[in-house]
Amino acid sequence: MKTKKKIICVAAARPNFMKIAPLLDEFKKHKEFKPILVHTGQHYDYNMSGSFFKELNIQKPNYNLGIKAGPHGEQTGKTMIEFEKVCLKEKPQLVIVVGDVNATIACALVASKLHILIAHIEAGLRSFDKNMPEETNRILTDHISDYLFATCEDGKKNLLKEGIDKKKIFFVGNIMIDTLLKQQTKSKKSKILKNLNIKPKEYALLTLHRPSSVDNKKILKTLLETFHIIQKKIKIIYPIHPRTKKRIKEFGFEKYLKQMENFITIPPLGYLDMICLLNNAKFLLTDSGGLQEESTTLKISCLTLRKNTERPITVDIGTNIIVGINKNKIIKETNKILSCKNKKSKVPFLWNGHAAQRIIKILSAKL
Ligand code: UD1
Repeated sequence: MKTKKKIICVAAARPNFMKIAPLLDEFKKHKEFKPILVHTGQHYDYNMSGSFFKELNIQKPNYNLGIKAGPHGEQTGKTMIEFEKVCLKEKPQLVIVVGDVNATIACALVASKLHILIAHIEAGLRSFDKNMPEETNRILTDHISDYLFATCEDGKKNLLKEGIDKKKIFFVGNIMIDTLLKQQTKSKKSKILKNLNIKPKEYALLTLHRPSSVDNKKILKTLLETFHIIQKKIKIIYPIHPRTKKRIKEFGFEKYLKQMENFITIPPLGYLDMICLLNNAKFLLTDSGGLQEESTTLKISCLTLRKNTERPITVDIGTNIIVGINKNKIIKETNKILSCKNKKSKVPFLWNGHAAQRIIKILSAKL
């Protein structure tokens, strides 16, 4: 019998789990591969990690490296030390990394030094803003990868401009949307609206966790003041990320939260509840990357609370509008949405639920 090709799939943080799930599902149809799942442990709480494994039916990781939070160098370095041990033991033919978190670059770098092939899923996204740690992670990972799977044509163009060989680049669509479409029926059964006592289209959904939005006292204050104005017009539901919760406490901003009757904070949500809330929201306020894509796919208006986006296709043809940290602009665009002047939008090409299939077909032919 032919020996199976070992492939290590790396998952680390919340936005990775919905990208890894379709891949592991698709591997089940290809008996020539033996996937090994490594969870680096960057996200470790049940509601940031465990619930995603349960709801998306992701196999138990073969390895959990137990690397939690820490300064960037420490988190990246510790991940490298532990991941190298796994690679030396397993000797995989390929390491697959997704997205742009610290584990993405850490594990890709280990594989590169050991001369193991690397595939990067979600390659070529660029915000052109090095103040965000994710931008460095994206650029470096792409430049040491052997197979670069892009979600859109812009991604492919960025990679070519940076001199990456076109033979390594494959435009396959958006793997996160595979999960979104697959879980639609289940997410519609979520009881979250009932539990929160809210009705479809009568609330805005908020997510906010980027260091660039929440680690700076002045910026966070401006955002909270803006939400104060918005919540007088429409209820805001905010599943609060642990980073933001910590900052609000440190900056003594809990008093602002108490002043807002219609600003509802809840613990981080599981995948199905989150998608149900997004599907039924009047609009989304966010600084997340993935949610810009999910809202474009579901045709829910999205106001991005950042100066830029690495996902410009969601602005060019999707529902997304970049409003920055500009109070007037945020309020102006909110008012437009509330008076039903929504932007016309389209779903990007190949965001149709078959990205994992395309990726594994390519790997099957190449390895
Ligand atoms: C990380 C990613 C970011 C991604 C985000 C999604 C990097 C550089 N950043 O940011 O790209 O958008 O995840 O959430 O990799 N914490 C918990 N429980 C957990 C996980 C984290 O309490 O399960 C706490 C940590 O202790 C830490 C804070 O949340 O204080 C931030 O965690 P960290 O992993 O450093 O980065 P994120 O801000 O989550």
